[in-house]
Amino acid sequence: MTIAFAGIPHEYTEGALAPVSTEYTAWDLPVTGSIPPELDGLYLRNGPNPPPVPYDGPYHWFLPDGMLHGVRIRDGKALWYRNRWIRTEALAGKLDTRPAQGPADIALVPNTSNTNVIEHAGRILTLAEWGLPYEVDRELNTLGRHDFGGALAAPMTAHPKIDPRTGEMYLISFGPVAPYLRYFVVDATGALVRSEIIDVEGPSLMHDWAMTENHVLFLDLPIVFDADYGAVAGFPYRWDDDYGARVGIMPKAGTSADGRWFEIDPCMIIHTLNAYELGTEVVLEAARYSNAVRDRWRPDVLAIDVGATLHRWRFDLHARTVREEAVDGRTFEFPKINPGLVGAPSAVGYGVETSHGERAGFGGLLKWDLGTGACLRHDVGDGRVAAEGTFVPHPQARAEDEGWLLSYVYDPARDASDLVIVDASDFSGAPRAVIGLPQRVPLGFHGCWIPIAEGQPA
Ligand SMILES: [Fe+2]
Repeated sequence: MTIAFAGIPHEYTEGALAPVSTEYTAWDLPVTGSIPPELDGLYLRNGPNPPPVPYDGPYHWFLPDGMLHGVRIRDGKALWYRNRWIRTEALAGKLDTRPAQGPADIALVPNTSNTNVIEHAGRILTLAEWGLPYEVDRELNTLGRHDFGGALAAPMTAHPKIDPRTGEMYLISFGPVAPYLRYFVVDATGALVRSEIIDVEGPSLMHDWAMTENHVLFLDLPIVFDADYGAVAGFPYRWDDDYGARVGIMPKAGTSADGRWFEIDPCMIIHTLNAYELGTEVVLEAARYSNAVRDRWRPDVLAIDVGATLHRWRFDLHARTVREEAVDGRTFEFPKINPGLVGAPSAVGYGVETSHGERAGFGGLLKWDLGTGACLRHDVGDGRVAAEGTFVPHPQARAEDEGWLLSYVYDPARDASDLVIVDASDFSGAPRAVIGLPQRVPLGFHGCWIPIAEGQPA
């Protein structure tokens, strides 16, 4: 069924991208195959889902109101599925619902909190680029805005890095007015303990960044804020040929003056895969769009006719040199790794394949051997579309890929989605389990697995 959402181009209201208009709670979901009994937790994912009221202004996929989708798994069963809009101030007035409370937001534009959802220090936070996070509970109810006890005096962006060794969380904030970039450290208890202004050339788009054991990496690339462009395109960032491209590497405990900047070939990076240290080198791996994207970074991102490929940069901190190499040529997005190896050398990467042409699309799931560049594909079925895959390690894993990749897969035949569980060590094989959901999970952005310890409430 196609829902008529006034003011939204039809490409975004059909098929895998089409928003839903119902908040469901469904119990005891049908399962094909067998859910691994070791999986005890909640799979959450965030994404844009405009409510069914006329949409105002130029439409851009990145901006509408955030909606969470969640599946609770325990004892080999899919106990429930829920989807809920995040009760932001931006949503208020569009739905008959009150916005969640909390400290005053600091958003320059409506904060739809639609991009990511994470758990840190016992809080589940929904994130976007432009404002404070919103805290939600395990049943996807919005509790309110969170500003770390008043310590976060800037928007929090969507890709914080949680250090699996220390439990600390590192985050950045970028924006169109100076200071263009800020850096924050949150300790393992959830207290924001460091705040630094980082000097950069201008207001570039820093959707993602990277972290190693001892350093953080800032990506100052030539997608730059332009309000006039935004008025036409719906999203105020465009390629700037004169901006240059550089990566800043700074000790985690350092300040802006301690950063070293490396010029790289101009490119666009929306998402990094990982970064780590190897001798005197810092290695960065990411989904890289070449400078061919310059004319194609347009309001209609679905028309983008170049794709990102897996790429590696080696920054030698002593020699001050950088070497670049292509890892693989196939196009993809949503790079992910085992969360226990963020910032450490990792040998396995995951992603979702993309196709490009008149209209871009997503397809199956990919798994790379990062040492050789060899890639395995998990076919999600004819016409079916995978979303970001989230890797969940086996609790007693002895190998990096011992665990499962979870992804919402849209099935056009029933205009609904499945939560597919793939055994990552048998990647090309049949899914370990397919959980049937009562409705479509529109193609969205990022999510996480929240383990729930034995004895905690379901
Ligand atoms: Fe992202």
